[in-house]
Amino acid sequence: MKLLSGSPLADKLQIPVVSLEWTECLDKRPTDRTSDDLDAIFSKLKDVKAFEKFHPLLIQQLCYYSYFESLEKGVTLFRTGDLGANWFAILSGSVDVCVPAENGKGHTLICTLEAGAAFGESILYDAPRNATVITSSAVMLLRVEQKDFKILWERNKQYMHGVITSLSKLTNTLDPKRRASEFDPSLLPQVASSKFMKDDPTRNPALPIIPAPSVRIQHAAYVLRTCILSKAQQMIRDRKYHLKMHRSCLVGSEMVDWLIHQSPLVHSRSQAVGMWQALLEEAAITHVSQEHYFKDKYLFYRFTGDESGTLTRPSTAEESECEEQLNDVILTLSQVGPDAMLRMILRKPPHERTIDDLEIIYDELLHIKALSHLSSLVKRELASVLIFEAHPFKGEVLFSQGDEGKSWYIILKASVQCIIYGKGIVGTLHEGDDFGKLSLVNNSPRTATIILNEDNTHFLRVDKDDFNRILRDVEANTIRLKEFGKDVLILDKVPINVKTADGTYQVCYKYSIMSGAAEKILEYLLETYICVNCEEGDTNLDDFLSTYVIFMPTNQMCATLLAIYKAKPQQRAGENMDLTLREKVKVIRFILEWHDASKETFFEDPKINVFLTELHHLIRIDVKIYPQLKEEIKLIESIMENDSDPKETRKSKLPWKQRNSIDKPKMIRPSDEVIFKVYCADHTYTTMKMRIDTPASKIIRLAADKLGLRADQPDDLKLCEVRSTGERILYKESDLSISYGLSLNGRLFLAPADHLDAL
Ligand code: CMP
Repeated sequence: MKLLSGSPLADKLQIPVVSLEWTECLDKRPTDRTSDDLDAIFSKLKDVKAFEKFHPLLIQQLCYYSYFESLEKGVTLFRTGDLGANWFAILSGSVDVCVPAENGKGHTLICTLEAGAAFGESILYDAPRNATVITSSAVMLLRVEQKDFKILWERNKQYMHGVITSLSKLTNTLDPKRRASEFDPSLLPQVASSKFMKDDPTRNPALPIIPAPSVRIQHAAYVLRTCILSKAQQMIRDRKYHLKMHRSCLVGSEMVDWLIHQSPLVHSRSQAVGMWQALLEEAAITHVSQEHYFKDKYLFYRFTGDESGTLTRPSTAEESECEEQLNDVILTLSQVGPDAMLRMILRKPPHERTIDDLEIIYDELLHIKALSHLSSLVKRELASVLIFEAHPFKGEVLFSQGDEGKSWYIILKASVQCIIYGKGIVGTLHEGDDFGKLSLVNNSPRTATIILNEDNTHFLRVDKDDFNRILRDVEANTIRLKEFGKDVLILDKVPINVKTADGTYQVCYKYSIMSGAAEKILEYLLETYICVNCEEGDTNLDDFLSTYVIFMPTNQMCATLLAIYKAKPQQRAGENMDLTLREKVKVIRFILEWHDASKETFFEDPKINVFLTELHHLIRIDVKIYPQLKEEIKLIESIMENDSDPKETRKSKLPWKQRNSIDKPKMIRPSDEVIFKVYCADHTYTTMKMRIDTPASKIIRLAADKLGLRADQPDDLKLCEVRSTGERILYKESDLSISYGLSLNGRLFLAPADHLDAL
């Protein structure tokens, strides 16, 4: 039976009219539900009276996971001893909870559950049902399947306190001998707002976000105060509350009344609240004991400066001047009010956000570029966890390279600078840009330092736990890191099989290198894989060490490592001796990894010896400043002396090194020979066998001889790859490892420059 629009029962049960379209949305599999379906389900569910005590976030997720059931009276939902498969929430009607009677005949009724109750949580523990549940009237239920309920529970336990009726608890009170349930919602930790706010004062909407008002807000406060004093002086007066005297204060609800009556521009009480909050967040007005943000209530607020209680009436000239400016001031406040209101909501602890608050945040999130690729369900979830963060002064270091990643940020206002050790400022991120998710997804240290570039910077922030729960697996798949306006590293999120503590494997997503400038790849690996615990199964570092010769000649690698080792800290970026030491240690340990991966081939290139000698010399000088390098120098010496068993000794000193069990790929050496074909424009070809590190100039010379090609000018012949897409890649004479860099189905052509277009 389906209860549809206009049904008298629906009206009587105070549930919003249930339409066919609505139940059809709830009949779909969760994964098939579109954003519109979810919005339609949510718009009805949030108004269900029985669900008033359900947290909005829980309701949002019920929209995704639950199915609608409409049942007649007398239907048995499950019996005592059954293994459960569903959890239920009652939208309307009632169910009887019964246990088998003592004498074994029939049932004893222990209680009746009404609309708003939820039951059946034993499915969390795969425990048998403790009671039989039978519908005692026609009922409408939301049903959630076991696997989905487990997710719902994991995500929302703190909101389910007081929602779930534990059947096992009910039956335990009847018979104390019955098995006690492991489930006790009262034991759940309660989120304490005081702790939430103490952690970060900008998260308390009752406090200002900047120490002194801007000129615009200061002027607005002056005009409003003067007009109130001239037209409604009694509004500002001393008030006594709970035996305490509050000097020269106004009442929140009266301030709203007054503002509404000043101009038709103010058309609702909530709009007026936002306008007054704009003054409060800039410290132009304040709650008398700074406990409340601006509320349309019997609460006392005061204009800043009136604390002493001595009010001087404005002069007639001041009064008429302010009277003239009042309209402009109201217009200004009506423009900034909505944003102030949004910030106020975002500064509330998540569990205090109402359904209307979440709708306001959600609407705002629809306009944020960094979130545009996310589904509406994810955006709704984010609405309940996003945190507003404000920083009044520029130059502050938000976090430093090497720090543990704790949050992801979206810039709402102003800009930040991105600073990399040894390079300085590599770029500026602006309003709408996001940053800081690399370390969260990769579980690695911050790859850059972020400094505030302007006063009054505002961010939206998602903390690590929420990020991992909501975003980690759905976040953007590609990240492009830029330096000086150019892409330097492209990372793609790929699944990696990670070994868990109990020895089983679990898929986890990580940003893996797709392409980039060779130096940036090296820098990223140093930051992400050296001196940190790497998951087994993540082969980025090994892949790099076994293939780097294709795109980075050994002398370039050595020069980059030396440059990082020698780099000096920048005080402006808060870089200190600790960070310098860390970078030096990472270079040394990277060399150990490199040596391990290269095995006996490490010393084949004579440049390595020169490099190690120079590095050793530098470390010996540095040991005087950083005694911690004494241990590190021994490690480098063990390589230089070609220690008989250096690896074992070193392994114990490299605590992050847990990847020993992986079969490391064989390293590609510059001297390895490869066989490849070079084509002429007419598709005849010659086969060549050459060292990997042969430069393009040599390939051109030898292939031209073999193919019998003659050029009019000595440098007229060009080496070019034609990809299967038709794209042509022209090689410079100095390019190396050409044949290894060919794309799938790509062909290498040698042709005069003016024939290239015809290839
Ligand atoms: P994360 O490593 O978590 O913290 C620093 C952030 O800076 C990083 O994530 C990126 O989001 C951001 N970033 C922007 N440009 C760069 C860059 N060129 N190199 C490294 N990080 C960058």
